[in-house]
Amino acid sequence: MTRRKLAAGNWKMNGTTADLSEIDALASAQPDPTAEVLICPPATLLAAMSAATQGTAIATGGQDCHAQGSGAHTGDISAAMLKDAGASYVILGHSERRADHGETDADVRAKATAAIGAGLGAIVCVGETLAQREAETTLDVIGTQLAGSIPDGVTGDTVVIAYEPVWAIGTGLTPTLAQIGEVHDFIRAELTKRFGDTGGAIRLLYGGSVKPANAAEIFATSNVDGALVGGASLKAAEFSAIIDAANAA
Ligand code: PGA
Repeated sequence: MTRRKLAAGNWKMNGTTADLSEIDALASAQPDPTAEVLICPPATLLAAMSAATQGTAIATGGQDCHAQGSGAHTGDISAAMLKDAGASYVILGHSERRADHGETDADVRAKATAAIGAGLGAIVCVGETLAQREAETTLDVIGTQLAGSIPDGVTGDTVVIAYEPVWAIGTGLTPTLAQIGEVHDFIRAELTKRFGDTGGAIRLLYGGSVKPANAAEIFATSNVDGALVGGASLKAAEFSAIIDAANAA
């Protein structure tokens, strides 16, 4: 099954309007990428970035959404609002949200259902902590997160899974390629068990300290269909080099 590579940037809580110049530079550097290219800026920049990327190959996305469509939820943003601001995806269940905001698998699943219902692709994040890896419970942890976080009835068009070991995020540490391949093969098997052939169409991203220097070998690893990139997505030159690796993969 052919799955188009996806290079997704997660700006986290970084960026103001001045940084939209990076998007212009990225669009110039990647006029016609083979890979799909996505940037998820902070919500404050989403509408402006969506306008700035009109007519380019760069899509935009949110970093979280509420499970409800509207209502008395001060400070929250609905999936339909992200869509209205130009988003085509939303990252859900990032480990920083699971840690900072106590999001559970059930929360993530409800948010993913809302996102898909609003016409967004849901990028659902899973990943083990260092203690869990050292206790050799990684696959159990990932299996539980997948079962709890992914709604029924998803397809390759509605959901993307991001495997992000918590200990690899922003640390410069990465698992070995064998470790990445082991987890991605496991996720693929779990998805196929649950969703049949559709499980083979769902893209699996690796995330955690992806850089230009390691992107090509990660993209060549079994069942890796792209990357979710934090720090290295903030500057056009660095992210463009990662996109080049995805284009060539
Ligand atoms: P990083 O973050 O690339 O800065 O490690 C990845 C992520 O959290 O999505």
